[in-house]
Amino acid sequence: MNETLERWSSRRAFILAVTGAAVGLGNIWRFPYITGENGGAAFLLLYVAFVVLLGLPVMMAEILIGRAGRRSPMQSLGHLATQAGRSGHWRWLGLFGAFTVFCILSFYSVVSGWSIEFLVSAINGDFVGKGAAEIGAGFDAFLADPWRMTFNHTLFLAMTMTVVAAGVAKGLERLNNLLMPLLYLLLLVLAGHAATTSGFGQALAWLFTPDLSAVSPTVLIAAMGHAFFTLAVGACALMAYGAYMPDHQSLPRAAAGVAVLDVTVALLAGIAIFSVVFAQGMDPAEGPGLMFVTLPVAFADLPLGAFWLSLFFLLLLMATWTSSINLAEPMVATLQGWGLGRGQAAAAVGVAVWMVGMLSVLSFSTLADVRVLFGMNVFEWVTTIPPEIFLPIGGLFIAVFAAWVLPEPVALRALDAGPHGFRAWRGLVRWVSIPLTLVVLASGLI
Ligand code: TRP
Repeated sequence: MNETLERWSSRRAFILAVTGAAVGLGNIWRFPYITGENGGAAFLLLYVAFVVLLGLPVMMAEILIGRAGRRSPMQSLGHLATQAGRSGHWRWLGLFGAFTVFCILSFYSVVSGWSIEFLVSAINGDFVGKGAAEIGAGFDAFLADPWRMTFNHTLFLAMTMTVVAAGVAKGLERLNNLLMPLLYLLLLVLAGHAATTSGFGQALAWLFTPDLSAVSPTVLIAAMGHAFFTLAVGACALMAYGAYMPDHQSLPRAAAGVAVLDVTVALLAGIAIFSVVFAQGMDPAEGPGLMFVTLPVAFADLPLGAFWLSLFFLLLLMATWTSSINLAEPMVATLQGWGLGRGQAAAAVGVAVWMVGMLSVLSFSTLADVRVLFGMNVFEWVTTIPPEIFLPIGGLFIAVFAAWVLPEPVALRALDAGPHGFRAWRGLVRWVSIPLTLVVLASGLI
């Protein structure tokens, strides 16, 4: 297949698209609960270190490959490898990425469905005057009801696949333009409000005074996995977006901008959520329900709380929408490469993801005690193994490909950061990102 001619309409549009992919449940839902489960500040410190040392350089590697190849991930990898006189088998990395995002999207859609449920409840004013215990009980009742969860999961996936079927670039650009600034603003308000509450000091201490003796291989693996997950790196999904990147735009500058935004969104959400946790005497290690129980409580204190809460869930839903569109893209691009039309490909992906997603839906009722592997039920497995194991492995191969396999002139041109910028990036990937990923993965195996 030939090079694509499609481009994001401007540099800003590219940055917004990547930010839309990066900012989502990972920042607002997954970050707080994983931080809670892994003891707070030490995890946070590691996560930020991994974003800088691994996530960001590998993100550049991934986008760079897409930009140099200007095709779907599998085709870009195969084409660039053969051009460089290397094995065309590199293209299977694109398929591995598609498998990874398949697993991730299966739970992503289910949890985004929870946001739909909470949006409707917030609009109805269901949370008004309720405390953490009551909201928590309501959430548990919802999880135990597979029908409501199925409905929301189906609705969300249909929303995602509709946009994907229509073609990503145009629809997404408009959505992103409005959404990101608003979400950010709302989180600022929320974190500002948190500063006036009694749990704020404790939340700050818990988030920002690391106790490094608490670091175990589990914590390391979780922090590394989350760094990849939150930046949307390691599954060739950003590679697909890189193919549409305009010609004159510095990749490191764009990527660094996205990473800063992404981490600050997570920090703001963390501050807002943990202030409630400590003010209410809740357990930080409460698990995947953490955000859904704490935020309604946080908003309840604000004047016009129900309104702000509704707006928040609406924005969250849109943020997860732009992320899930990115998650679907590698799979749809792969099927298209195998000759399916875009609409057909989107439908096929939608149906397959829906079915696997149902296993996550039922993990809270019928299948709660069915252990698949490592003693986890399906929901626990898909929320842990693909982000923490598959993404780093994918990222590792992406890094090797960009920094060792691609000929220097090709990579230099696609990075668009001048010879010095290029050397610095390549040195970082070769001598820091790749070895560090290997060491952390190995520590997890032992
Ligand atoms: N980064 C998104 C989030 O934090 C999730 C996501 C979107 C993702 N696209 C991805 C994760 C590709 C891994 C790979 O919610």
